[in-house]
Amino acid sequence: MPDLSDPIGCVTDSSPSLVRIEISNAEDFEKHKAKLGVGQYLLIASGNDLYLLATVMAVRVSHIDRAKPESGDGGRGEADSVAFRFQIDTQPIGTLSEDSDFTRGTPALPVPTEYAYVTPPEVLSAIFSKQIKAPFSFGTLSVAPEVKFEVDGDRFFSKHVAVVGSTGSGKSCAVAKILQTVVGIEQNANANKAAQKNAHIVIFDIHAEYAAAFRLAETEEFTLNLLDVDTLRLPYWLMNAQELEEMFIESNESNSHNQVSQFRHAVVRNKRRHNNGLENISFDTPVYFSIDEVVTYLENMNVEVIGKLATEGKPKLADTTLVSDRDSYYFDKLQSFVVASTATATKASNGPFHGEFDRLILRLRTRLADPRLRFLFYPVKEGGAKLETSDFADVVRQFVGYLTKSNVTIVDLSGIPFEVLSIVVSLISRMIFDFGFHYSKNRHVSGNVSDVPIMLVCEEAHNYVPRSGGAQYDSSRKSIERIAKEGRKYGVTLMVVSQRPSEVSETIFSQCSNFISLRLTNAVDQNYIKSLLPDLSAGVGDLLPNLGQGEFLTVGDAPLMPTVGRFALPVPEPHSRSVNYLQEWNADWREINFDVVIERWRGKLLGASADASKMG
Ligand SMILES: Nc1ncnc2c1ncn2[C@@H]1O[C@H](COP(=O)(O)OP(=O)(O)OP(=O)(O)O)[C@@H](O)[C@H]1O
Ligand SMILES: [Mg+2]
Repeated sequence: MPDLSDPIGCVTDSSPSLVRIEISNAEDFEKHKAKLGVGQYLLIASGNDLYLLATVMAVRVSHIDRAKPESGDGGRGEADSVAFRFQIDTQPIGTLSEDSDFTRGTPALPVPTEYAYVTPPEVLSAIFSKQIKAPFSFGTLSVAPEVKFEVDGDRFFSKHVAVVGSTGSGKSCAVAKILQTVVGIEQNANANKAAQKNAHIVIFDIHAEYAAAFRLAETEEFTLNLLDVDTLRLPYWLMNAQELEEMFIESNESNSHNQVSQFRHAVVRNKRRHNNGLENISFDTPVYFSIDEVVTYLENMNVEVIGKLATEGKPKLADTTLVSDRDSYYFDKLQSFVVASTATATKASNGPFHGEFDRLILRLRTRLADPRLRFLFYPVKEGGAKLETSDFADVVRQFVGYLTKSNVTIVDLSGIPFEVLSIVVSLISRMIFDFGFHYSKNRHVSGNVSDVPIMLVCEEAHNYVPRSGGAQYDSSRKSIERIAKEGRKYGVTLMVVSQRPSEVSETIFSQCSNFISLRLTNAVDQNYIKSLLPDLSAGVGDLLPNLGQGEFLTVGDAPLMPTVGRFALPVPEPHSRSVNYLQEWNADWREINFDVVIERWRGKLLGASADASKMG
């Protein structure tokens, strides 16, 4: 234990939740004022060789009346006649042994009259950084900027993390700072330039703000894997049953069961058609199928006519060919059938699904023609060739940064149409989970765990994994909840970022082991975070609405105890979206070129549909 300076006061009350210290000397208080504010740490002697570490919860002052001193000091005596007594309420949080070993909890409480001391920075450093097993830098202590704050990085990243805070409180900056620390970015430089490390981070970036934080000068050799609506290769044939059905089937239509069954049937048949060598192909097998052929198949089913003459009983084409194998006829083109008839010589009746798929086909056609969805339905490789089953490995590589050998992959969701956001998020997170799962399973065989752990960062998670909300979020919620529940075992963890913890899926939050809360102004959200705090540290929850910019409270199993820290601004910074309103409004009237705005507004659509018509 380093030398403590003189005691600042002594204990007057002692209970497990509150230890009160009194300082009766105003000069002592004045001298140490900076170290006695709310949130600061004090040491309180407890017996001969133990010290309690306690957090300051409240500071109070009371007057003591003193007899007026003799006059003759030019009036100053008036002021001196009022003396102050200071009371500091603290909450004990842990115990420090004589050799500076820190343990949570307070086995023995101090008795009144024991001394209290300001905690020297060396002692705080010993507690907040030196005792950590796999130290990961987490900024500095808020109350002592000279003291580095570290958490156990293995614990922090190997389980799910939640980052919450009101809008503008600094969540994106905090996330960027943490991730930059992981990948070795500091002050625009890449510390791992000489030898790339094995970090794997995928960010779902809803406002296109993170790329700025990971774009360094070329000389720094940091390769960012940026996937946006133009570069993302996300073929529709990777969608599973739920995603495909969410995309195309309206479950409230009365014949939706027929739509589902025939759609599934057509997809499975088409997958087999295009993947001859593969066995056990099911609806969910991630292999190529042609969505256009499936639509054609359904169009044929929708109009087919069955020949009813003796020995017929099969679909009958206009040229009287009997279709014994629909697959050979229905995928390639729209057939014309004989006309339904009751006449004995030409007896034929409409097929079982006649007219049933009108709406489904319309919906499919509309989606496929939507230029904004081309990245999904007409994805191409460099050179313009279609993505096929053999490209699956590259599709997976792209998401985990292996195509570009990148530590950070940003999936820029800002250009993804809102209607398909859930499906895109679901698909990508499922790809990452499934990769982690199968990779880990392979390693488990030889008794190892994953050596390619991945963290998936979900920015503004309330947008696609809301606590309650329509069926349109079912698939993304399901995929991300699955990672929340099972991902840890397979080396896939989540960092969930949201301004409304009370609006994000409970399943996901309840699986988080570590929380970083920036300033929170909403009472419901504050209570949510407070409910996570252990009794010993319940008091720090009251700081939530008052945290400053970049200040955070962290709770969980990675920090030694709930701690208020502060992150420095990340350099480079993510794209902050704050606009200087008053400055802009006070500037001279600004003319705008509306044509440029409209061009951009429509530009992508026009460009893409021109391409589409070229492709026919
Ligand atoms: N550690 C910090 N120190 C100083 N300023 C900060 C810090 N972190 C963030 N800021 C400032 O706060 C502003 C908002 O930060 P940020 O965009 O990270 O907030 P946010 O919580 O992600 O907001 P939103 O909910 O709108 O996404 C930024 O302009 C940034 O300059
Ligand atoms: Mg943000």
